[in-house]
Amino acid sequence: MNKETPSLSGFYKLNQGERWNRLATVFDLSAEEIGLLKRDGALPHELTDLFIENAVGNFPMPLGLVTNVLVNGEEFAVPFAVEESSVIAASSNASKWVKQSGGFTATCLGSLMIGQIQILDIAPEKMEELADKILASKELLLQRANETHPRLVKRGGGARNIEVRSFPHAEIPFMVVHVHLDTQEAMGANLVNTVCERLAPEIESLVGGRAGLRILSNYADQRLFRAHCKVNPELLALNEPDRKLSGAEVAKRIVEAYVFAKYDPYRATTHNKGIMNGVDPLVIATGNDWRAIEAGVHTYAAREGRYQSLSRWWIDEEGMLNGEVTLPLQFGTVGGVTRLHPVSQLSLRILREPTVKTLSQIACCTGLASNLAALRALVTTGIQAGHMKLHAKNLALGAGARGKEIELVAGEMVKAKDVSATHAERLLEFFRNSSIIDAPVQQSLS
Ligand code: HMG
Repeated sequence: MNKETPSLSGFYKLNQGERWNRLATVFDLSAEEIGLLKRDGALPHELTDLFIENAVGNFPMPLGLVTNVLVNGEEFAVPFAVEESSVIAASSNASKWVKQSGGFTATCLGSLMIGQIQILDIAPEKMEELADKILASKELLLQRANETHPRLVKRGGGARNIEVRSFPHAEIPFMVVHVHLDTQEAMGANLVNTVCERLAPEIESLVGGRAGLRILSNYADQRLFRAHCKVNPELLALNEPDRKLSGAEVAKRIVEAYVFAKYDPYRATTHNKGIMNGVDPLVIATGNDWRAIEAGVHTYAAREGRYQSLSRWWIDEEGMLNGEVTLPLQFGTVGGVTRLHPVSQLSLRILREPTVKTLSQIACCTGLASNLAALRALVTTGIQAGHMKLHAKNLALGAGARGKEIELVAGEMVKAKDVSATHAERLLEFFRNSSIIDAPVQQSLS
């Protein structure tokens, strides 16, 4: 950055063209570099500028489809916005085993968001009595909450319950009032926050304390979804010429891998990352808030006081491999940018305009499938074989390969079972020096 240039204070007041000019000067960017920012693709600059502040361009992300996702008897092609190779292949791969075994069953265990109102300046010894007082006024508080959103109530949603929690031993003692809200098709952050702000003065006058924070909780443990699958182990058998493993053995090893994640938080974190490989890309593709979902899911994984696996795997009495995952998911199909971003609209169309409930159930299924694919790879060939096979083209690109060189270098690495940046560089140099690149591709592969 040009050190003599002052900060970008007031950058937001500039129009798009002025911002690009300013950037070019401050960061010494070339016309070509600014050209990258000027390309808007599927998201027009007018929208980018509305969605976020200080917008200078778009950050394109690959969009692909996970296939074979059979949920409660209905098949979906699931849009994934993701930058990592093998994530889509993995989720499709395991969804295929599940489909061949009868498909996923998915359920909704609850669909309420939680709003929190913190109450301060209450003597710890009075907290129990005041909690009872708040609960005695539950109906009135629910009524007040519903007056805030008459249209939500008309659509069948609204406030459902009030709970009170007390923290008398905190260094600054406080109470918390929870409002449970059915936000219908919306993720609900704005609906919940408005209710919290509306109820805060009511609660203050009821208990005589002072309202602190009034905000939703992203720990959506009243908005839980579950997916289950029962897989025929025969589909998991490893039948490579030099390595063979029966399906029953693979299933047994998958259960061992799950137990590892159940007890060891170091492993659980990676195991759960493997589950979120199948959730976050759908959250992004549908314009939903992945920070909220990630935060909620990991708190749920630690709900028993220790971070552990979000999924569970076991073998039933018929020898079938069973898997189950339960996730707190805060999706919306309206609100936020879901209906404004042209690609998230398209993603929802590809999913045949699902309700929030269906969308959340699909996410649980693709999450469970991603987990299964990763575990099956980990207990058989190791993750690198499949993952690196699909990552090979990226490594070839990173080594400098262009056009048909990419296929050539990637193909040779996979064939030699050595997929690495160093090998990509060596191969590229070899191909270029021996002029193979200019020869027909089939010749060069011999
Ligand atoms: P394969 O056995 O070589 O695949 O697996 P295949 O060629 O026999 O094809 C089987 C199915 O996989 C296909 O069925 C597709 O559904 C899908 P079909 O459509 O042919 O009827 N498939 C593909 N879909 C799209 N594009 C492709 C493609 N290839 C197969 N190119 C595969 C290859 C990579 C799928 C397998 O090795 C696998 O599932 N590996 C797991 C990879 C993985 O988990 N990647 C995520 C990144 S690693 C990570 O982040 C998480 C981790 O740390 C989590 C943890 O530790 O638990 C591992």
